[in-house]
This record gives sequence, C-alpha cells and structure tokens, in this order.
Amino acid sequence: GRVAVIMGGNSAERAVSLKSGAAVLSALGRAGVDAFGIDLYGESQDLCPVTQLQAQPIDRAFLILHGRGGEDGVIQGVLEMLGIAYTGSGVEASALGMDKLRSKQLFVGAGLPTAPFAVLSSVQMLDEAERRLGYPVMVKPAHEGSSLGMSKVRDRAQFESALGEALRYDRSVIAEQWLTGAEFTVAVLDGTALPVIRLETPHEFYDYDAKYQANDTRYLFEHGLDDTQSEALAALACEAFAVIGCRGWGRIDVMQDAAGQFHLLEVNTAPGMTDHSLVPMAAQRAGISFEELVVRILRGAE
Ligand code: DAL
Ligand code: MG
Repeated sequence: GRVAVIMGGNSAERAVSLKSGAAVLSALGRAGVDAFGIDLYGESQDLCPVTQLQAQPIDRAFLILHGRGGEDGVIQGVLEMLGIAYTGSGVEASALGMDKLRSKQLFVGAGLPTAPFAVLSSVQMLDEAERRLGYPVMVKPAHEGSSLGMSKVRDRAQFESALGEALRYDRSVIAEQWLTGAEFTVAVLDGTALPVIRLETPHEFYDYDAKYQANDTRYLFEHGLDDTQSEALAALACEAFAVIGCRGWGRIDVMQDAAGQFHLLEVNTAPGMTDHSLVPMAAQRAGISFEELVVRILRGAE
C-alpha cells in the first residue's frame, strides 16, 4: 500500500495546509517513500471526502490538514472507521487540542499555568470579562489556527468589534489576559521536546501575516533563557502534550508574563510544515533534516 498525504480541507487554514502538504509530499518522495497527495475539498474534486479516501488503497495516512474538520478529530474518526493508520494525535486529543477553551480548562485542572481568561459568546459577557481581565486582552475564536480571527483590544469599543470579528469564525470565543513577555514555541517529536524557539515580530502579535508572509519575523534559538528556564519550558510543553493526550508530534505555544513566568497558550496537533514553519526549524536545529522529520512522524502512525 501507499502513503496518502492528506491536505487541503475546507477550514480557514486550507491554503496553509496545501503548502504544508506539498512540502511533506516532496520530502517523503526524496526519502524514497511511495506517497501521493489527496487534496480534500479541492476545487476540481466532486467526490465527498470519505469517497475520496476510499478511491484508492491507502496503507497509511500522513495527516497535514490544519483547522476544523482536519485537525479536530473529524478526519481521524473517519480513518479509524476505515481502518487506516494515521500520523499524529487520535480523535479525542485532536478535538481537545483544536479547542482553546477546553485546552485551557484542562491545563487549569492539571495545575499547569495558562493566562486568566473568560468565555465570550455574547456582548453581555463583556462586562465581567472586562472587570476580571482588564486591558489589553486578546480575543480569540476557540477553534481556529494561524491567529485567524484574533485581535488585541485596549478598550470597550475595540472589545465589541473584536468579538464580532471572532464570532465570524466561531461560536465559541475566549478573551485572554494580555501577557507582556516573549512568545516561545516548543515542538514535540516522539515524546521529546526539540529546541525552543523564541518568536519576535514588530507586529502587535504573531499574527497570520507575521506567520506566513512577513520577512521581519525573527525566529531565535538564542532565546535568552538560562538552562533551568529552558528545561522548565521544555518540560511544560511535554506536560501539556500529555494532558491533552497527544500522540506522535505536535507543537506547544507558550508566552512569558512580565515576571518571566511561562503560560501555556495552546497545543497544535498538526502544526504547519511550510517553509516558514516552526517544527521543521526546530528539527533542523536538532540535526534532524526535513526528510528525516517526515519519516519519523510517519513511523509514529497508528
Ligand atoms: N495552525 C498552524 C498551521 C500551526 O500551528 O502551525
Ligand atoms: Mg494553533
């Protein structure tokens, strides 16, 4: 059987997934793996996704769909039913990892640090959020990736319009207290943290443009943490991965507050693999080539 690299999908991160998928497919080819791509919901595609998956024999699936429908357990469930092994997290961890609200509730329950937050599904909930969190706050659709639908707000008027914007993406929206420290990301591969990356952007925050377009985003391995701090950060990432119940590989995003404490933002269960993406950078730093990285992720397919 052959390896299917499943990409595309119909989420707001479709374009990112197509880039990740193309990079994964060509790396698998270079590594001598017999692989082909499946673009779910592609333009010229009139088959439903399940029929598309059944159209030819698949030995294992390399899942590189981002966002809802692809990173949230839905496709994982279909593959379970079809008896096809797939890379990355299972149904439950994928669903939890896609939901920033449930993820934060689990972090809190497990005693892991995460910034204070409020649930916002209507304007009525802003009063309490304002009182409890103060300004600025970050407004986020709960089930979205690549910073889509997110805004930093400083007053009530901005808060209301940010909520409206986030509600265009998702019925579930959270507000998170603004943290003034640095942002870090930690890739996890086979239960081990890869080198920590510190992100710096002249933008207000690490937004979609800073992630995929800008050339002024800085990715720093000289992260300014001492050994104790960077080990604590790596351990925190591995704990978050375990609390969500993730498998294989993923990437954990973390912010520091003004006092230097770490706070978990979220877990990405099918993180980007584009030429701007962080997991390949961290792997490279650890001496793992992109080809070796994809082969190792594939080997973890269950
Ligand atoms: N959601 C994007 C693809 C990432 O986490 O890299
Ligand atoms: Mg994400």
